[in-house]
Amino acid sequence: MERSGLLKGKKGVVFGALNESSIAWAIAKAAHREGAQFALSNAPVAKRFGTMEGLAESVGSPVIWADATKDADLSSLFDQLKEYYGQIDFIVHAIGMGVNVRKRRPYEKLNYDWYAKTLDVSAISLHRIVHHAMESQALNEGGSILTISYIGAQRSFSHYSEMGDAKALLESIVRTWGARLGEHRIRINAISQSPTQTTAGQGISGFDAMFEFGQNMSPLGNADADSCGDYAVTLLSDLTRMVTMQTLYHDGGFSSIGITDAMVEPMMRMLNSDES
Ligand SMILES: NC(=O)c1ccc[n+]([C@@H]2O[C@H](COP(=O)([O-])OP(=O)(O)OC[C@H]3O[C@@H](n4cnc5c(N)ncnc54)[C@H](O)[C@@H]3O)[C@@H](O)[C@H]2O)c1
Repeated sequence: MERSGLLKGKKGVVFGALNESSIAWAIAKAAHREGAQFALSNAPVAKRFGTMEGLAESVGSPVIWADATKDADLSSLFDQLKEYYGQIDFIVHAIGMGVNVRKRRPYEKLNYDWYAKTLDVSAISLHRIVHHAMESQALNEGGSILTISYIGAQRSFSHYSEMGDAKALLESIVRTWGARLGEHRIRINAISQSPTQTTAGQGISGFDAMFEFGQNMSPLGNADADSCGDYAVTLLSDLTRMVTMQTLYHDGGFSSIGITDAMVEPMMRMLNSDES
């Protein structure tokens, strides 16, 4: 993709780049290409499992370690951001983890401590981040906040389990904060992204089947992380300054499809072979 300078002069923070396959990583690369300056943040535990510092070096970003479920970490993060940049123009929240999902606990038998942790990490962290950004007056007028959701917020996908609840809460937080941020000319939106091959994605049992289903049910196929990065750039830019409180589907058309030839034709062949 050619550089257009769409984010020239914009400053921000990107949460959630664990490794090269992370959606946040792709967003950071695209934002850098478009001229933005930003800090990268992740939970301290990601130092051990991830490679974010390599990304930071390649895009010239400071790194601020912060657990997005901890108020003290977030308050300190926004203080540090002010020192680096003064006020900022965008926040990208690309954080998620389903604890029961990872530990293969079925929805019918959730461990409620883990469930609370899932909601805290995957949804309430967005509320906390916006809260601390507003408390510290970190965001400029015209600022843009972006999070990443999945269509499991609206529809039931059997193996998505508790994460469907977390995404429903996440999208509700987008709307409820959005109504309050308007008076500051700040907007907030969610991208509802296709299944994407990432560490969080692959933690879901049956992910490969969901990926394959998405691929066959989307006229454009599944949207990958790089195309999500390109779409995210538009939402961080002034071109979308009047868009707020939305869940925006970035899914190759999946959300508008009933059924596709790619799904119908093998079924027709199967039924025909049963009849003969
Ligand atoms: N991969 C998919 O198929 C897919 C589809 C739609 C939406 N999403 C969403 O995209 C977002 C990014 O996930 P991803 O797929 O890039 O996976 P990923 O594993 O690369 O990213 C998830 C990030 O969340 C971070 N995180 C977890 N707990 C945290 C905490 N307490 N504080 C701060 N950070 C924490 C992890 O360290 C990691 O960097 C998530 O919200 C995910 O639900 C993913």
